[in-house]
Amino acid sequence: MATAVKKSPVKKSNSHAKAASHAKTKHEVKTNGQTSQSNGAIRSVLKEKRVFKPSAAFSKNAHIKSMAEYERLYAYAEKNPEKYWAEIAENFHWFKKWRKVLEWKLPYAKWFVGGQTNICYNALDRHLTTWRKNKAAIIWEGEPGDQRVLTYLQLHREVSKLANAIKKRGIKKGDRVAIYMGMTPELVVAVLACARIGAVHSVIFGGFSAQAVADRINDAHAKMVITADGVFRRGNALNLKSVVDEALVNTSSVENVIVYQRTKAQVHMVEGRDHWWHELMDLASDDCPAEKMDSEDPLFILYTSGSTGKPKGILHTTGGYMVHVANSHKMVFDIKDDDVYFCTADVGWITGHSYLVYGPLINGTTVLMYEGAVNYPNWGRLWDMIERHRVTILYTAPTAIRSFIRAGDEWVTKHNLSSLRLLGTVGEPINPEAWMWYYNVVGKKKCPIVDTWWQTETGGIMVSPLPGATPLKPGTGTRPLPGIAVDVVHKDGTPCKADEGGFLVVKRPWPSMLRTIYGDNARYEKTYWSEIPGMYFTGDGARRDKDGYIWVMGRVDDVVNVSGHRLGTAEVESALVAHSAVAEAAVVSRPDEIKGNALVAFVTLKDGFEGNQTLKESLREHVAKEIGSIAKPDEVRFAAALPKTRSGKIMRRLLRELATNGEVKGDVTTLEDFSALEKLRQQEEEE
Ligand code: WT7
Repeated sequence: MATAVKKSPVKKSNSHAKAASHAKTKHEVKTNGQTSQSNGAIRSVLKEKRVFKPSAAFSKNAHIKSMAEYERLYAYAEKNPEKYWAEIAENFHWFKKWRKVLEWKLPYAKWFVGGQTNICYNALDRHLTTWRKNKAAIIWEGEPGDQRVLTYLQLHREVSKLANAIKKRGIKKGDRVAIYMGMTPELVVAVLACARIGAVHSVIFGGFSAQAVADRINDAHAKMVITADGVFRRGNALNLKSVVDEALVNTSSVENVIVYQRTKAQVHMVEGRDHWWHELMDLASDDCPAEKMDSEDPLFILYTSGSTGKPKGILHTTGGYMVHVANSHKMVFDIKDDDVYFCTADVGWITGHSYLVYGPLINGTTVLMYEGAVNYPNWGRLWDMIERHRVTILYTAPTAIRSFIRAGDEWVTKHNLSSLRLLGTVGEPINPEAWMWYYNVVGKKKCPIVDTWWQTETGGIMVSPLPGATPLKPGTGTRPLPGIAVDVVHKDGTPCKADEGGFLVVKRPWPSMLRTIYGDNARYEKTYWSEIPGMYFTGDGARRDKDGYIWVMGRVDDVVNVSGHRLGTAEVESALVAHSAVAEAAVVSRPDEIKGNALVAFVTLKDGFEGNQTLKESLREHVAKEIGSIAKPDEVRFAAALPKTRSGKIMRRLLRELATNGEVKGDVTTLEDFSALEKLRQQEEEE
């Protein structure tokens, strides 16, 4: 049993922790109540005293058994990072060994230079010569309740066949393939088939709109799209193929579309361009040797939001990504051969790439994969699946945990969850109350929680407890993994003192770091490597407590985390101003109990348009159409004018305060026109 060694209620202290003493920064921190901001300095207001040590029983069987062992490993990696990573890389299959572990020309890294490998080979072929060939690789459940199991051997066969099928349709090493599918095993097959032949996959989340799909296809110049007729979600069959059809009207690079039949929805097949998955598979040979890939050959592009309107194509390469993702998966989730590992993330996000597909399969893990909504047909669905499949490890997001809390404990407690031994979270800071609920109600006080901090850009987990070693505190990802040089620093790069708020950075390259933004080195350099000299800038604010634990406070740029999904407010703004009625738009976030953050759009209208309820609704729909429903503003407010500085910059901080507290207390001295703010405030009172 894990024990609480120290217990005291969560205090949200109003006496701010010491403000960063350095010069004012242009950044502002805006998060879910853990931070406050004034005069540009980052302050942390969350104080959490409870500590939960791993039980002796858990530690005894864990890969890393004690804090002393962690400290040794961490110090070893600090002393000679290249040696540390090379020793881990030895555990994988390389067709040819690397010449050099790291080539670092800031900000461009190459790992395992000269090495040749194939990540699909490591995820599948390697297991076929062991007893794992008949082990379940994927246990899958469709939303309607249908189930399938694919062993490693069966998955290998499917992947080999699809790899041959896409080769036959002209896809070669280095070509980009867009994948737009629901969560069926075929999505994993498509990803691995690309990796097998060296095609660069770009998975597009199934919730994105036709416009967003087209933008991503165009940016990557994708030659092929792999999609499905549809997907089941909340009891409905959503049509995916029609979205692709609409997207392809605005693209010119795609030559072939492969369509997996899932829902049997009516679809329109374009002669010569569109092919049924099952027809191609029937003809394909199951013998497809894995392509020898250079360690630095691109593996995938995954688009994510930044602080400008255009999504960034984060580029990951082969060898380094494989090494860190598989190793971190094994360490953080303490993976054993008899585990049933359930990751609820969609493969459309990085969590699905790294910790549903690549990490687990490379480690020969049995993965539970689920197609639909975790609350369909009711709030018991997730817990019912855990009970039936005897899941041992659950990896999910704080937003899901908060919605389960709201739904009521009975949905959880009526199921036998005794198979669970480890819980994980990812995507946003978890509030201590949600952490305690997860720990007590789901984990019955016996499962450690790994709160994993990382990003699309980092490829793999950077900060996380090691469950058999690290004493846990609710709300923190605790310490960096060995080999990962995370720190909290001032704007000039000097380290912050304990409990002093600052910027979360990485001081040394790590194997699974992004290599660039696809087609845009300048943006890569500017976004990640120019904010803080010589270091990778994460975009997050954080503090390190006296035990060296890292408390992530949230984004310091114009990026917002809504239900664990990253959204650029600028992206939503540009969608809004594309609407014929809109003159100007400013999108900000306010804390939300379930979603972490909610989006509030302040909109000024063009002459002749009236701000009424119908227009509000059509603006929300418009954003859904331009980007996807995940980006729909929760609230639209019409304004006569937006508060701006004398130089014309919209003062989003004021709008944020207004959206959150209904009033503005902060400094308004740079405001150009006070009446704009006053009008907004009055309107708030009227509503
Ligand atoms: C941003 C990255 C990593 C996969 C999912 C999101 C926030 C992520 C945590 C955590 C506090 C977290 C950060 C980060 N974030 N995990 N455990 N604690 N914040 O990937 O879309 O690239 O977003 O999510 O703000 O920068 P992403």
